[in-house]
Amino acid sequence: MAKISFFFLGFVLSVVYIVFASSWCYAFHGRETAETSHDDHHFTHTIKFTTLLPSTVCDSSSKANERKSSLKVVHKHGPCFQLNRDNKAKSSISHAEILRLDQSRVDSIHSRLSSKKQSGSRGGDIKETDASVNIPAKDGSVVGSGNYIVTVGLGTPKKELSLIFDTGSDLTWTQCQPCLGSCYEQTEPIFDPKLSETYTNISCSSSSCDLLKSGTGNSPSCDSSTCVYAIGYGDNSFSVGFFVTETLSLTPTDVFPKFLFGCGQNNQGLFGGAAGLIGLGRDQISLVSQTSQKYDKIFSYCLPSSSSSTGHLTLGNGGGSVSNSVKFTPLSTMSQRPSLYGLDVTGISVGGQKLSIPSSVFSSSGTIIDSGTIITRLPPTAYSSLKSAFQQQMSQYPTAPPLSILDTCYDFSKYENVTFPTISFSFNGGTEVEIDETGVFYASEVTQVCLAFAPNDNDGDVAIFGNVQQKTLEVVYDVAGGRVGFAPGGCS
Ligand SMILES: *[C@@H]1O[C@H](CO)[C@@H](O)[C@H](O)[C@H]1NC(C)=O
Ligand SMILES: *[C@@H]1O[C@H](CO)[C@@H](O)[C@H](O)[C@H]1NC(C)=O
Repeated sequence: MAKISFFFLGFVLSVVYIVFASSWCYAFHGRETAETSHDDHHFTHTIKFTTLLPSTVCDSSSKANERKSSLKVVHKHGPCFQLNRDNKAKSSISHAEILRLDQSRVDSIHSRLSSKKQSGSRGGDIKETDASVNIPAKDGSVVGSGNYIVTVGLGTPKKELSLIFDTGSDLTWTQCQPCLGSCYEQTEPIFDPKLSETYTNISCSSSSCDLLKSGTGNSPSCDSSTCVYAIGYGDNSFSVGFFVTETLSLTPTDVFPKFLFGCGQNNQGLFGGAAGLIGLGRDQISLVSQTSQKYDKIFSYCLPSSSSSTGHLTLGNGGGSVSNSVKFTPLSTMSQRPSLYGLDVTGISVGGQKLSIPSSVFSSSGTIIDSGTIITRLPPTAYSSLKSAFQQQMSQYPTAPPLSILDTCYDFSKYENVTFPTISFSFNGGTEVEIDETGVFYASEVTQVCLAFAPNDNDGDVAIFGNVQQKTLEVVYDVAGGRVGFAPGGCS
């Protein structure tokens, strides 16, 4: 019976997948090097391009471990993640497919926000199909979620598990034995509740079970009085299983008994060999909320410059190590989905020149920051302004064909050094953030290097500050304080 219901829920999610999404990517394989130079006025970057191509060796020189309560962050597809070292074939996926999955995540964010806006209904129920009608359906064999991975301990004695972290969702889950529906292949052994002394099921009548509705967008169901969750992601991947409590060990000294998480019995999606996902949203069931007593709802991360280097995810204020150079902007909230991290973009500059985008463009779309969306999405009016300013300053380089959603591409194969304009974002409160040189392009290969921004379909769709543009920045989420901050050089 259990087996049938898990299959059924999985099927429903694979068809309807309304909640969230995901993506994966190689993005731009940059390494910060001595070859890099900055002009006096910080209006351009000059890079020896060949130093930015992928490396097959992991450079884990990041000082993540010097921060308190800090976890090392690696890219799902790079040599710093064990599975890829052992089995290269598993990580081969085309850039076009990566970008298609990225678009699925964005479509899912947009449809979830706009459907709830229109209907005012509770939304997100797996029976409400309206939210998903314009998302292309696909069989679940090639799916993925998020790009960046940390390793945590679960159970007593603890077992190490590598999980994708995602600021765009809330539930933390891992695949669990006996995999009543199905489990995909993962790097570490699949978590077995029978081998842990601290595993406890949550009953359907418990108030914790009720938290799933807002935490996953789907109402919980019940299996022999055990609470059952179901969460779907915009790229057609999903997890269904028991909602349980277990001891979570983030570091040897940061241990959380009775942590609420999903013990996934039917999981679909090639999560890049990761054992599951950590939800870092603002809902009550997120890691951020469940650990608030210790960390005061503060966390920060640095996404590495390339898939062959490492960054960090730090819970709390890092023992006071949060840099003085962090500049903050107020968090805002999307009423339709309050767990997402909203912020207010006020403008964009290219080569030190502020683009003339009417301020109403960003104020009417709104913007979220998301660790799981790869390419930054802009209102079409803002994108066309960015694109033409960028093209103007890149006119000396030969263009290349578009790559999926990316329409501004160049062939740099004949150049030793490439000079391109800096791009910076202004946020509410006067905070200005310059995108790192590794966050401007998405490179398929040196003959097709594309501006890593894309337009939304409509000016009304929410803009998304994606993870390519966040690379190497220290991004600080002070959720209790209602602000997000940025500083350069966060991974070093
Ligand atoms: C948890 O609940 C499931 C479904 O009711 C059951 O099969 C399993 O044995 C329970 N595990 C424990 C440790 O109680
Ligand atoms: C490329 O940049 C490096 C370092 O700035 C410089 O030494 C070299 O001369 C440049 N090459 C060309 C062809 O401009």
